[in-house]
Amino acid sequence: MTASLSFARAGDKKNSPEFEDYIGRLLEERDRIGLTDCIRQIDALMITVEPAHSLAYVAELCVMTPYHYLVTLESESHFTHILRIDMGAPDILVREVKDPNVRGIFRSLNEVYPIGAVKPNSRYMGEVLRVTDPHAVVGMQKARDIRFFNQDQVRKLELPGNMAVVKPSPYTHNIVAYWERPESDIRVYALGWSSIRDDMQAAYEAAKSTQKKLGIGDLLLPIDHLATRIYSQNREAAILEYLTLSSYYYWGSYDIADQNSSTNVTKSVHYANELECPAKVFTAANHPYFMNHLLTESPTEAFVRNFGPRLHHIAVAVKDGETAALANIDYVVKSLRDCGQTFLLDVIGSKEEGLKQIFSSASEYSSLIIEYVQRFGGFQGFFTKDNVAELTHAAGVEESLKALQEAAQS
Ligand SMILES: [Fe+2]
Repeated sequence: MTASLSFARAGDKKNSPEFEDYIGRLLEERDRIGLTDCIRQIDALMITVEPAHSLAYVAELCVMTPYHYLVTLESESHFTHILRIDMGAPDILVREVKDPNVRGIFRSLNEVYPIGAVKPNSRYMGEVLRVTDPHAVVGMQKARDIRFFNQDQVRKLELPGNMAVVKPSPYTHNIVAYWERPESDIRVYALGWSSIRDDMQAAYEAAKSTQKKLGIGDLLLPIDHLATRIYSQNREAAILEYLTLSSYYYWGSYDIADQNSSTNVTKSVHYANELECPAKVFTAANHPYFMNHLLTESPTEAFVRNFGPRLHHIAVAVKDGETAALANIDYVVKSLRDCGQTFLLDVIGSKEEGLKQIFSSASEYSSLIIEYVQRFGGFQGFFTKDNVAELTHAAGVEESLKALQEAAQS
């Protein structure tokens, strides 16, 4: 039996006594009933984009990440493109809504937020978790008050039929889905008609030839972490809810005081290597927005108020080492800048601190930022506080500019 409470705790942010009580009880019970061992790795990430945007978004991802285009699944009102590195890292499902008038729950989650509403079909949806016994997992989760879409709703949402899908979290607005897959089997999504689309294949091949020309293809590794931004008051609930839904443990929280924010990290109990199963990070302001005028502004709370709680960035790992006398991350960023990709700041951190990081500009198609992160010499730490403060600040500057632009247009 896996002991979810046996991992060392990192971080400096204090939690409430209730949080410390609940986490012990939740994880002890999760282990005892066998749920921790039944739920394995993240097998796929699901992202939805606006009509006619998926071709450009897949092309963008195929330049900026190690993902390959595999196949397109066409259903009545969606195209779902499957991107894969290999079976050792999660797939990305990029889903395009065909008709701009289609309404649904994921669109509704965007529509009450001023900037989220501008691209109502664009958002990160959530993760598909591999489980060993879906019937048992769904039963155990229902007994713990987790709500699922029924089979009819899953069919109407045009999500793969071979999944049990949890309704969006009230704290993160993300979903998780469970499906069964023996580890030796390839991932097959039960959805619509499958084909390799000529336009997608051509865009994919062009993207990979760009990567090759730039010499960055071999430097990009799988996803290191996924970072979700949430309202300040939901910090502890969002962490505990994700531990309820997954087989992750609580790694710890750091206070990023000068950005009025905290970074809260959870990781898989089964996969020590994030590249096989990404860490899930939750970022929340330290106090609610209505205290800003008495305390300090928070870029994190401002983001959540503008976009809604949602995934903020996907961090892609960069191989340790140097290329052309530059740290690989510097080489990757320079190469991408040379072909037009913009970034929110310069690469921050250093070899001495163990870690270098950067944020790209938010994608025009998904609104998601790509973070690149290079760890030096087997650095074990997950991040440095100075880096996180600088990244949070840079993202906040871009978002406030966007908010001003939206206000000017409305
Ligand atoms: Fe990050």
